Amino acid sequence: MRKLVLLISITALVWGLTSGQETPSLRDLATERGLFVGAAIQSEYLNESDYAETVAREFNMIATEWETKMDAIHISKGVFDFNRTDRMVNFAEENGMAVRGHTLIWHRQFPTWLDPNDYDRDEAIALMRDYIYTVVGRYQGRIQYWDVVNEAITDNGTFRTTPWYRMIGEEYVDLAFQFAHEADPDAVLFYNDFAAEAMNMKSDTIYNMVAGMLERGVPIHGVGLQAHLTLGTTRTGSNAAVDEVIENMTRLGELGLEVHITELDVKFSRGSDPRRQELQAVDYQNMFEACLAVDACTTIVTWGVTDKYTWIRSDQGIEDAAPLLFDENYQPKPAYFAVVDVLQNGS
Ligand code: G3I
Repeated sequence: MRKLVLLISITALVWGLTSGQETPSLRDLATERGLFVGAAIQSEYLNESDYAETVAREFNMIATEWETKMDAIHISKGVFDFNRTDRMVNFAEENGMAVRGHTLIWHRQFPTWLDPNDYDRDEAIALMRDYIYTVVGRYQGRIQYWDVVNEAITDNGTFRTTPWYRMIGEEYVDLAFQFAHEADPDAVLFYNDFAAEAMNMKSDTIYNMVAGMLERGVPIHGVGLQAHLTLGTTRTGSNAAVDEVIENMTRLGELGLEVHITELDVKFSRGSDPRRQELQAVDYQNMFEACLAVDACTTIVTWGVTDKYTWIRSDQGIEDAAPLLFDENYQPKPAYFAVVDVLQNGS
C-alpha cells in the first residue's frame, strides 16, 4: 500500500514539476507541520545560484557545517573572523530561515594556536568563557539554536579525553552551557552526538548525563542526534533501528528536552545498484516518521544540500558518495520523494 502511495506522490510531484504547477517544497510541507527541515551549508557555495536557490526553496533552517567551529572563527588568541558565519546568517535572515550554530566546544577543528599545556584550569575556563561570550553574544537573537558541546562521550560511554576535558575536567560541559546561556538567554542549547540515536550504552550515558545536568540546573534545552547512517541501519535490530530511535527520543522528551536530528545522511556509493537508492529512501522515510511520532522531535537537518558537496566525498574520500536528498545536479532523489510522502501523508 505504501509503495502505491509513494508512487502516486512521485507521479503527482513529477507532473507538478513538469507542468510548472506550484508543487509544495519540503519547506512548505515542513512549515505546515510546524517542523524545521534544514540543511548544513557552507558559505562558499552560496555564490552558486543552484545551491542558494535549493536551500532557500526546500529548507526553513540552515546549520553551519564547519565555518562556525572554533579554529575557523577564533583564528588566534583574542582574534575572531566572523565573515563566513555572517554570510550564512545573513542568507538565513534574507530567506526567513532559522539557524543552528554548529558547534562551540568540540575536539576537532580545535585551534592550533591553543596549546592546552599553556593553560591552567582557571585560565582555560576564562578562555572558554571569553570565546563563548564573544561568538554567542555576536549572534544573539540571530542564531536561535546552538550545539554547545559536540561528541563529549565515547562509544563505550566514557568521557572523551578532549583538550577541554584535559584542561578543565568533566565540568567543562556544564560551564559551556552556562556561558552560552549567559551570552544569549533566549538561545536554545543542545548537546550533540553520533551513534546515539537508538538504545545503547552511549545513548544511555548521554541520557544520564543530560538528566544530571537538568538536576544541577544547567541550562540545557535539547539533545541532537546526528544520524549519520548507512543503508539499512534504521531496520529493526540495526544500530539506528527506528523503533529504538523512537524510544530514545521519547525518553529524552520525558526529561522536558527538545530532540533534533541534526546531521542526517545515509551513506552509499552512487555507482552501486540503483535499487539501493530505494533502500536509502526507506531510511530517510523511517527517520522522518520517527521524528513525527515523537512530540519532542521538532527538527531534522540533513548534513549537506547536494551529493556534490557531501563531507563523505571531501572528508572520507568516497568520490561517488550519494548520501543526501539532492544529487550532484540538484535533482531530487527517491529519498526526497519519500520524505515528501511522509510530510504529506504521514501520521
Ligand atoms: O573548503 C575549505 C577551504 O576553503 C579552506 O581554505 C580550508 C582551510 O582549512 O578548509 C576547507 O574546509 C574544510 C571543510 O570541511 C570543507 O571541506 C575544512 O578544512 C574541514 O575541517 C571541514 O571538515 C568538516 C569536519 O566536520 C571537521 O570539522 C566537514 O565539512 C563537516 O561536514 C564535518 O562535520 C562533522 C560534524 O561537525 C560533527 N559530526 C560529524 C560530522 C562529519 O565528520
